[in-house]
Amino acid sequence: MIEAERQGALDAIGSEVAVCTRCRLHETRTRSVPGEGSAATEVVFVGEGPCFNEDRLGRPFVGQAGELLTKLLESVQWTREDVFITNVVKCRPPGNRYPEPEEIAACAPFLSRQLEALDPALVVTLGRFYMARFNPGARIGQVHGTFQPADPASGAPRALTYAMYHPAAALHQGSLKATLFRDMEGVPVALLQARERRVAGNGPPGQDAVQIEVAPPLVEAPAEDVSTNSVEADSARPSALEAGHTGESAVAAQSIELTSQTDLTDQLTLF
Ligand code: URA
Repeated sequence: MIEAERQGALDAIGSEVAVCTRCRLHETRTRSVPGEGSAATEVVFVGEGPCFNEDRLGRPFVGQAGELLTKLLESVQWTREDVFITNVVKCRPPGNRYPEPEEIAACAPFLSRQLEALDPALVVTLGRFYMARFNPGARIGQVHGTFQPADPASGAPRALTYAMYHPAAALHQGSLKATLFRDMEGVPVALLQARERRVAGNGPPGQDAVQIEVAPPLVEAPAEDVSTNSVEADSARPSALEAGHTGESAVAAQSIELTSQTDLTDQLTLF
């Protein structure tokens, strides 16, 4: 699919979402929130569901959690416009409660159709709900910062998925902020892995989750090291269709330093 066709498919899904009555969340929503971003991107971020600000504006991640998501993207030199951002459920659960299983099930076809249209290389799951789709029974405290192949029924058969805490979790438990930024460093690394896998024609689904170990922050790096690093960051920027979606982009060699992982307990995400 060329970019215009992807955009057309996304717009059609957005129009359906706008008038959807498949579950009772439509009764209390102000606006539905289909998602937004680049139709040519290689990377999709999937949150849980809209909350107060998103419901008013019809846009994903525009509140405090959204501010943090924007900062996380900036920390790897990406912008919101480089990626596509959406949610498991497209309408706000009243009172910011968790979505019910039947609401998630009713909304699921929209997300899988969005993924089919975008055919991303990498799907980043924010929080427990979409993470659970690829890691049944796992706790976010165990799998954050890991990637694994997406199962084809998700709509993204050629993608890797990468699990992260939900940004809202860090608003309620400050110590998770450092974990989020650390895990975010792994996103461009996972994208490079995902590209390699696509070029190689995909591995069989179902392999064990792979832990990404990221280098410590470059706080004391001299200026020349920082510029080297930004070249690597550029090569891992979500590309437009010509590069990322055809697998023609140069895949940078990665040297990933080994560090210890923070041991965290599970965290229920709040919207
Ligand atoms: N939390 C989410 O999961 N999604 C949003 O869009 C906003 C907050």
